[in-house]
Amino acid sequence: MKKFLDLITEEVTKAFTECGYDAKYAKVTLSNRPDLCEYQCNGAMAASKEYKKAPFMIADDVAAKLVTNPMFSMAESVKPGFLNLKIDEAYLASYIEKMCADEGRFGCDKAEHPKTIIVDYGGPNVAKPLHVGHLRSAIIGESIKRIGKFMGHNMIGDVHLGDWGLQMGLIITELKLRKPELVYFDEEYTGEYPMEAPFTIAELEEIYPTASGKSKVDEAYKEAALQATNELQQGRRGYRALLDHILNVSVTDLKKNYENLNVSFELWKGESDAQPYIPDMVQKMKDDGFAYESEGALVVDVKEETDSKEIPPCIILKSDGASLYSTTDLATLVWRMKDYNPDGVIYLTDKRQELHFIQVFRCARKTGIVGPNTELKHIGFGTMNGKDGKPFKTRDGGVMRLEYLVDEINEEMLKKITENQKEKESLDISDEEAKVTAKVVALAAIKYGDLSNQASKDYIFDIDRFTSFEGNTGPYILYTIVRIKSILNKYHGLGKEETGAFIEPAHSKSEKDLMMELSKFNAMMENAFEESAPHKVCAYIYDLANAFNSFYHGTKIMSEENEQTQKSYIRLLGLTKAVLETCIDVLGFSAPDRM
Ligand code: ARG
Repeated sequence: MKKFLDLITEEVTKAFTECGYDAKYAKVTLSNRPDLCEYQCNGAMAASKEYKKAPFMIADDVAAKLVTNPMFSMAESVKPGFLNLKIDEAYLASYIEKMCADEGRFGCDKAEHPKTIIVDYGGPNVAKPLHVGHLRSAIIGESIKRIGKFMGHNMIGDVHLGDWGLQMGLIITELKLRKPELVYFDEEYTGEYPMEAPFTIAELEEIYPTASGKSKVDEAYKEAALQATNELQQGRRGYRALLDHILNVSVTDLKKNYENLNVSFELWKGESDAQPYIPDMVQKMKDDGFAYESEGALVVDVKEETDSKEIPPCIILKSDGASLYSTTDLATLVWRMKDYNPDGVIYLTDKRQELHFIQVFRCARKTGIVGPNTELKHIGFGTMNGKDGKPFKTRDGGVMRLEYLVDEINEEMLKKITENQKEKESLDISDEEAKVTAKVVALAAIKYGDLSNQASKDYIFDIDRFTSFEGNTGPYILYTIVRIKSILNKYHGLGKEETGAFIEPAHSKSEKDLMMELSKFNAMMENAFEESAPHKVCAYIYDLANAFNSFYHGTKIMSEENEQTQKSYIRLLGLTKAVLETCIDVLGFSAPDRM
């Protein structure tokens, strides 16, 4: 379905050209004076130069054409040369009716040429618990992926596990100290290794920090861990088998954690999956003359003439021959290109990794790993801060584990929901339902709190504000959906049906405002996809929820006597609910039936 603004622009363009003015001046925008009009065009101001005419004369000409156009209830030329437009109620209603009929899409067409896009997000590190730093990547990445899917693209989420660093060597070292008798440490052993892991997730999560702590104070211990890492990377059998166990145990736990966040990945690849591609990749970089030795390391220059700040060379191998984070990311691109030949790869990490991605992207293009038809994009997000403006920590100043944070919000939400129920006495929700509902609403609070900010900005994680049922919050959006659900239930509970009715032209200003918000859905979604910007979806549903609530407060829906009008209201409610639900689904959360 055509976008509403495009339809208006088409008519205004026709009017401009019919009056002998160039189409390029017919640029229509949403009004920045909603008290005066709904849409506006300032093109006459710019055209005045070319046609050597006062702007208001041009605006007058165009307005005269538009007043008779059924699309507009008002087309007014205002001095010095603005064109103010109001949409005709019947025309708007017919557009909304078409949205209703377009089930599941509400006027938003799928992409004509679907793209394959890999979204690299999550980025958890194996054997280390998820902490709040991983929350943003998961939340934003999941939403970008879902927005793309809704637009009809082939979106592939890859968790890109951090499973190839010193942490593996540390775990192996500590394990060897504790259980030296394990067969994995016997270099003579050639048989099969046990299927069962020699540790649980709880042990693993304890082993890693212990080992990490020891390595900081004990030189020999650190040396052993480095040695183990090296042997693992060289392919020592027993260590490889341990790595598989560490991965399995960790991944099972990670999946559970991500599931609780309503986040899932198509691919569970890790840094280790890239390692087999490194030797050939490095050889080719050397053969093609891109990689050269500098101070013992192997590097590729990536600076460009237009750089305003120094971009250091991309280091491919350290002087001891070890690979780095950038090497792994480049080799990961090798298999991603080979297996998927994607149109785009989007990375979500903390914005402090910006330089890393500039280097990797430039190096990948320069060395031909990635061709010109694949777009590489790094979305660097800001820090999640506590109320004190500093990175979010536990009460005693430690790194906050994601699970605990989620538990805390669940509890807070349960309290609010129970209070809310007491106030409204009429609803008696069982303890069980209250708990389930609290979880659903808590997730909305967390995700909306994050996604409603532009990703690159830092934001303050404020539990009180995020869990509030009022203001620009997740719970407010859910509350609005629940309110609509309850009206629809009441209506249908009376045995009534809205079939055989059409959306009627708005009966009030607030109803028209609601329709105007709804009409922006397809343009908003397309734009949110193009700009990888979930915050645009949030801004939209906040406006839509506000428009709905004004309409709701100013309209007697259930007591409306004209049956057709009532049906039209119910249809409008149904569309509003469906659009809101579609939007929160792409944001990665859902609404309960009541709260
Ligand atoms: N594991 C990394 C971290 O915790 C994030 C990985 C991001 N993805 C990537 N392809 N580099 O910082």
